[in-house]
Amino acid sequence: MALRKINIGLIGFGNIGCGVVKILQQRKTLLAQKIGIEIVVKKICDSDLGRKRDVSVDKKLLTAVADEIINDPQIDIVVELIGGLSPAKEFILAALRKGKHVVTANKALLAKCGNELFSEAAERGKNIYFEASVGAGIPIIKSIKEGLVANKFSSIFGIVNGTSNYVLTQMSKESCSFANAIASAKAKGFAEKDPTFDIQGIDSAHKLSLLTYLAFGKIVNLKDIFIEGIAHISALDIAYAKELGYEIKLLAIAKKEVDELEVRVHPTFLPVEHLLSSVDGVFNAIYVSSDLAGDLMFYGPGAGQLPAASAVVSDIVDLTQDIKAGLFRPTLNSIEDNSIKGLRKIDEFENKYYIRIMAVDKPGVLAKVAGILSKFGISIASVTQKERLKSQVVPVVMVTHEVKEKNMRQALKLIDKLSDIKEKSVAIRIEGV
Ligand code: HSE
Repeated sequence: MALRKINIGLIGFGNIGCGVVKILQQRKTLLAQKIGIEIVVKKICDSDLGRKRDVSVDKKLLTAVADEIINDPQIDIVVELIGGLSPAKEFILAALRKGKHVVTANKALLAKCGNELFSEAAERGKNIYFEASVGAGIPIIKSIKEGLVANKFSSIFGIVNGTSNYVLTQMSKESCSFANAIASAKAKGFAEKDPTFDIQGIDSAHKLSLLTYLAFGKIVNLKDIFIEGIAHISALDIAYAKELGYEIKLLAIAKKEVDELEVRVHPTFLPVEHLLSSVDGVFNAIYVSSDLAGDLMFYGPGAGQLPAASAVVSDIVDLTQDIKAGLFRPTLNSIEDNSIKGLRKIDEFENKYYIRIMAVDKPGVLAKVAGILSKFGISIASVTQKERLKSQVVPVVMVTHEVKEKNMRQALKLIDKLSDIKEKSVAIRIEGV
């Protein structure tokens, strides 16, 4: 009996697009045996058709006009891999309105316009699948949506940006500066040409907004996510972190605190024993705490042609099964966790802190600093002066007990105004203890 064919149209024939075509060509028989359907790439659209690619396709499949895919009634699934906000958004909306399912890896677009796109999809009885948008080939989205469907979640801690994790790992393992670590990431092809989004934590925040929706059913606007990047992390702080038994990681955190949700991205001190501390280089990991399945960590390469394309193909396959069964499974079937009343305000976040101040080494300076901390109810767990250079500036490193964000900010502001404090103080949140 001839296999049923399902046609797909690919918009965006870049690195990941080529990977998708490669997998569909090379695993054609295997996939057909596994799913009982032949997946046919019917059209491929890209604005630059002349570029050299690492996969060859019949020239007749190629077009520079996306409408040739969107308006083709024989295409059931549109795969959007051009990235960016526009025209990706318009293409996805048009495809849904033409009755097609959509697969995308576009986390920036979903984080910004997910509400609108998913509503449109639901209205049309179509789906948007997006496994490749977080952690590339790591099946984290499917795991939260399906594997852990019966669970309630208390927190998600993610290392979801390979570039920044590579930079922090280089600084920690090779004792190099931030600038050298970035240069090395670029030289090895790990960092984008412009890694601003990665370094500033914005890419992690895009991914966090999707994970938060899946786990907690809350749509969190990017502007409501507290985001701090890693550009201010110095080799000094990495070295002190190690001395104190920590690694510094850029974490994307969604955490339920009583009846509120904290959603934040920032560099974090994590105890070396924490599983996430051993996630090095460009690898990603998502550490999920759930009430039935317990604590789980999903780990793997968070970027790269074949890992990302593997996730895209998995979405295509899922959609072929839905089409075959005549099923409509809403894209985001997360039910809002009603025990969460709202987002916790940044001022109210509570954390232990690592603080480094640069103080003139003379009597009474530490007493003044301690006085300010005590005024804001900040209790010191440990304090170490790292050097002894009378009348010169020395680093003083402190670890605090739990303190409210607002109090820490106000205290640091006053500390930095002291005449014996010679540089802006550094404060890094501690998690996992
Ligand atoms: N630029 C991202 C990273 C990969 O460095 O992890 C794409 O999500």
